[in-house]
Amino acid sequence: MTRRRTKIVATLGPASTAPEKIEQLILAGMDVARLNFSHGNAADHRLRAETVREIAARHGRYVALMGDLQGPKIRIARFTQGKVMLKEGQKFTLSNQHPPDAGTASIVGIDYPPLVRDCRPGDELLLDDGRVVLVVDEVEEQAVHTHVTVGGPLSNNKGINRRGGGISAPSLTDKDRQDIKIAAELELDYVAVSFPRYGRDIEEARHLVRAAGSPAWLIAKIERAEAVADDRALDALIKASDGVMVARGDLGVEIGDARLVGIQKRIIQHARSHNKLVITATQMMESMISSPLPTRAEVSDVANAVLDYTDAVMLSAESASGKYAVEAVQAMARICLGAEQEPTTTHSKHRLGETFGRCDETIALSAMYAANHFPGVKAIIALTESGHTPLIMSRIRSGVPIYCYTRHPMTQRRAALFRGVYTVPFDPTSVDPARLSDVAIESLKQQALLKKGDWIILTKGDYYSNSGGTNGMKILKVR
Ligand code: G6P
Ligand code: MG
Repeated sequence: MTRRRTKIVATLGPASTAPEKIEQLILAGMDVARLNFSHGNAADHRLRAETVREIAARHGRYVALMGDLQGPKIRIARFTQGKVMLKEGQKFTLSNQHPPDAGTASIVGIDYPPLVRDCRPGDELLLDDGRVVLVVDEVEEQAVHTHVTVGGPLSNNKGINRRGGGISAPSLTDKDRQDIKIAAELELDYVAVSFPRYGRDIEEARHLVRAAGSPAWLIAKIERAEAVADDRALDALIKASDGVMVARGDLGVEIGDARLVGIQKRIIQHARSHNKLVITATQMMESMISSPLPTRAEVSDVANAVLDYTDAVMLSAESASGKYAVEAVQAMARICLGAEQEPTTTHSKHRLGETFGRCDETIALSAMYAANHFPGVKAIIALTESGHTPLIMSRIRSGVPIYCYTRHPMTQRRAALFRGVYTVPFDPTSVDPARLSDVAIESLKQQALLKKGDWIILTKGDYYSNSGGTNGMKILKVR
């Protein structure tokens, strides 16, 4: 049996709240459920989180939960008629003083007063993910006067970005601080931070998450031009986090669609070489919001992210509000499995010619080298507390499954995001040390994942509950 290695993150929303729907998503292959704090309230998120946990447990599945903070998305206020039509060439003003519900086709309020300070004549402002473009003519103390260069419909509360980035909103808002507490209460496994600019934005988020009592891992969403301005800026964000998301919606607006794909590839490669996770997100199956089959271009987009070795591909509106949420997960699962059959995905040049920083890292990478070069090896068993050992292993390209053996429920779910890693609940402290390898192998044999004559590699430390303590690997023949 070939198991899918690339993982699927699916956003839950109005189209995916009913328990039957969530069950279908889990059976179709959802590995991580994303709760989007930009929409819905705490009660909605709690209901979805509880439903996912209960159904996953019933099916013996490990599904991680990710809370995605809204961040400082800058938005226009609202129009008297809900929507206006902007024509190319016409004048349009964004104003801090205009009443928030009384926008017209020539002026609208803004919900973020400092925007005015960040604008200069000649700047391009992109509204609604770039569907409408304004060029700044003049900046007053409380208003930005522009003319329209790309016209179209504009409706209430649409987002504003500036081409090239540089809007100075702090990355954690008061709402984010509240939502971090909710994430901790709901015991979410991951917290994604929107629009971080510097490593210190992630450090601040981590501090707040820990202060709220949560051990969740932090995902930095790469979506500002500044974050990808050079490798130093990108690497600083990667190093400060446990993983990154290529958040192509806002990133594409800020840097332009032409650079997006090259930069996506660079982000995936850098994240992996720093031992971090990476999720590729936004519009992967966009047409499936209203159609039961993906386009060839979408198939190609997902497959290319898989070939580039992303840990996960993500669905947003497709699963949150689309008509074909379950079909979108099924399509992704099928495309991932297909792309993983390409032999390029079993060869690795990962960190060849580099030195390692830690003992457990050295063991983890050696285990992968052994697994990739000894054809009899059918499984890697990594005993782990935090998930760190299998995370490092899974940074190397391989076709050999890595089993995350852990007794901690959060680690069991967390590993659902790691490429090529599968959870096996296991408590080494309750096993006679002399029989540990036999017991560990037995559980895979029982699931028919191993048979007599197969080889396995097992990693552990000298002590049975010591995160960071992995110092040995064994190559064993299944009897
Ligand atoms: C389990 C093993 C230990 C090992 C640890 C690694 O507890 O029994 O021998 O040291 O996992 O955990 P880590 O969080 O570093 O992957
Ligand atoms: Mg975004």
